[in-house]
Amino acid sequence: MVISKKNQLVGVDVGSNSIKLVEIEDTKKGRFLKNFGIIGLPHNAIVEGSIKEPEIVASAISTLIKNLKINNKNISTSISGFSVIVKTITVNTKESPDLDTGIKEEAEQYIPFDIDDVNLDYEIIKRHGEKAEGEEKEASGDYIVDAILVAAKKDMIDEYVDMFHLARLNPMIMDLDAFAVQNAFEMSEGNIQGSYALINIGAEELGINAIKDGISIFTRDSSFGGKHITEDIMSAFNVPYEEAEKIKLGGKKVDDTKKLQEIFSSNISIWVDEIKKAIDFILSTYPDEKIERLYVCGGSCRIPGLIKYLESETEIPVSEINPFKNLNINEKLFDLEYLKYMAPQAAVAVGLALRSIGDK
Ligand SMILES: Nc1ncnc2c1ncn2[C@@H]1O[C@H](COP(=O)(O)OP(=O)(O)OP(=O)(O)O)[C@@H](O)[C@H]1O
Ligand SMILES: [Mg+2]
Repeated sequence: MVISKKNQLVGVDVGSNSIKLVEIEDTKKGRFLKNFGIIGLPHNAIVEGSIKEPEIVASAISTLIKNLKINNKNISTSISGFSVIVKTITVNTKESPDLDTGIKEEAEQYIPFDIDDVNLDYEIIKRHGEKAEGEEKEASGDYIVDAILVAAKKDMIDEYVDMFHLARLNPMIMDLDAFAVQNAFEMSEGNIQGSYALINIGAEELGINAIKDGISIFTRDSSFGGKHITEDIMSAFNVPYEEAEKIKLGGKKVDDTKKLQEIFSSNISIWVDEIKKAIDFILSTYPDEKIERLYVCGGSCRIPGLIKYLESETEIPVSEINPFKNLNINEKLFDLEYLKYMAPQAAVAVGLALRSIGDK
């Protein structure tokens, strides 16, 4: 399929720590990285996915767009966290007038919010029809479908849409962080059979997406991430946010390195416990599965020792996601060392930039 230029979108990942922007050009010769940029946000401009300072966030995005000389106003973006529910459901369409109604009725029991307060979306992942293999006789003829249901609070979506309008941009696609990472991962690694989990450790979000034969079977977002380390440094060393970030990233030394180390290890062990809990849950639901590998991304996966620790605690090999791997990159335009460093932080934005208007 040839995607016309008109349909291409700029991927904008609005993270609580920084905004990442990626533009990809889809050509006959393949996909080319056209733009990549990142800009930091002040402390608490976004809290638990909610935009507290829309003007500041919009102006950060405008600055990035201007600096990168991007003309395309059509963007794709994503949300995550507690305001979003993702669930695999099974619906028998014979019991309801149509698929939409069936899904909505089935969805209601899984959504802890008023159904009128959410935007519902779904994607069919399997149809159990007459031709489905291994189906019980009774099922044949009935139209039973498995679908991934996504419910997001409308006020959360409105917050993002309003903020993008402030930045004079048109949000055309509202995806989820977890699916954007999956999209980027599939583009860079191809279709991997078997089971694996994609883990995004950002500033406030610890996102887990387990995939079996290319289909997401479990997602969970927990509010853990690098921000908690920064905040612990702020209180332990009595320093403001920016200074605490510097200390965390090794740009400023402290006398009490033991205390700093303790902050890192106590946070990391909480995150790894959360990941282990999710893995145990997945394996209890799918007892015959074996999670073959964990793939990590997000800025906090760079914390020295984290990958080794995760590997030893879960006894599952861990790799870093490199969303730039399968893109053509002009070395005259990009510093490859810099891109290599930024790669795990760019996964969501690359996944978003792969989307185009009208795709599904
Ligand atoms: N080398 C590093 N060592 C430790 N922490 C790092 C390093 N590089 C980045 N981080 C941390 O990663 C976090 C930013 O990661 P990322 O950009 O993935 O988060 P985000 O997308 O802005 O936030 P959210 O969790 O809301 O999605 C920050 O907390 C930052 O301090
Ligand atoms: Mg993020």
